[in-house]
Amino acid sequence: METLLLPGADPATAAVAAALIRQGQLVAIPTETVYGLGADGLNEEAVARIFAAKGRPQDNPLILHICGPEQMEQFCHHIPQKAYDLAEAFWPGPLTMVLPARKTVPKRTTGGLDTVAIRCPDTSVTREIIRLSGVPIAAPSANLSGKPSTTTAEHVLHDHNGKIAAVVDGGPCRVGVESTIVDLTEDRPRLLRPGGVTPEQLIAVLGDLVVDKAVTAQVDKDAVVKAPGMKYRHYAPSEPVVIVSGSREKAAAYIRRHFVPGDRVLCFQEELPLYEGCSPLSYGREADVNTLSAGLFAALRELDDPAIHQVYARCPVGGGVAYAVQNRLKKAAAFHIVDAEAEE
Ligand code: TXA
Ligand code: MG
Repeated sequence: METLLLPGADPATAAVAAALIRQGQLVAIPTETVYGLGADGLNEEAVARIFAAKGRPQDNPLILHICGPEQMEQFCHHIPQKAYDLAEAFWPGPLTMVLPARKTVPKRTTGGLDTVAIRCPDTSVTREIIRLSGVPIAAPSANLSGKPSTTTAEHVLHDHNGKIAAVVDGGPCRVGVESTIVDLTEDRPRLLRPGGVTPEQLIAVLGDLVVDKAVTAQVDKDAVVKAPGMKYRHYAPSEPVVIVSGSREKAAAYIRRHFVPGDRVLCFQEELPLYEGCSPLSYGREADVNTLSAGLFAALRELDDPAIHQVYARCPVGGGVAYAVQNRLKKAAAFHIVDAEAEE
């Protein structure tokens, strides 16, 4: 099939994309976080096409994208006040909430769970597509399963050209890492995945937050986890990635000692001069963590090359959005971290 590239700014795009969604086709949609591979979230056959296109495990549930909090009741029940408070504070925006699912949501969408993840994306063309299609759009990140997420229309075409009906081109994604996921189905709100809405911002609204262990540590693939997606190898280029922590100077000394031809260095822009001769690739400025989140996946995709032997990566420290960047990089590295301060 020919994959249509629909400009996000074209006034005709939303109607064309919505018609394809209603026909059960796959349409990649831009959001502020990453591009999603969208389909009618209430149509089992359409949802099955998402899993097939990505090569995604069937037990890994999808996020339903909706136009706003007024649609929550259609797909969720027993919605706590906290959910409305979060929607008020952060929607449209990079926050996904897990709530008890109504029977209208197919089990194929929820991966067999009786809960559903919902979010309202902060891109007007995508909300217009949802509105015109008249259905919630189920959309995982549009990358092939296990690979770094897609933050441009070109990334989506690279993975799916000829296999999906259309890509709506909204330009590069502003946030660059996937949404924050909060589970509101238990007594205490639980962070399942860090993202553009930070733990600090969540606590300011909720007063309380448990961080799920899958956020900070490697989870066994047979483990029972809250967000099934967290147990799979993720965001990973084909070669091993190792994070080198510690000061700029100590990390550079460590990497330069171990570097062999065929390796690459993924670092902050400020560090480029330290890695001359080591084919460094910068993913943003350490001084502005938003540039790091926005640039991370494009860099990891560039490094997804069988000719590369190993990648040494530098990771920002601290909370806020840096927490989400750490989570993605640690997963890409399968939690392989060396401390340059401890290695002489
Ligand atoms: O920013 C985003 O969230 C992007 C854009 C396209 O909206 N979407 C995205 O979807 O990242 P995906 O499928 O790549 O990641 C969704 C994560 C998975 O780890 C999945 O296991 C988890 O959300 N999830 C979905 N439904 C869930 C549920 N009912 N309970 C727990 N986790 C759930
Ligand atoms: Mg994903």
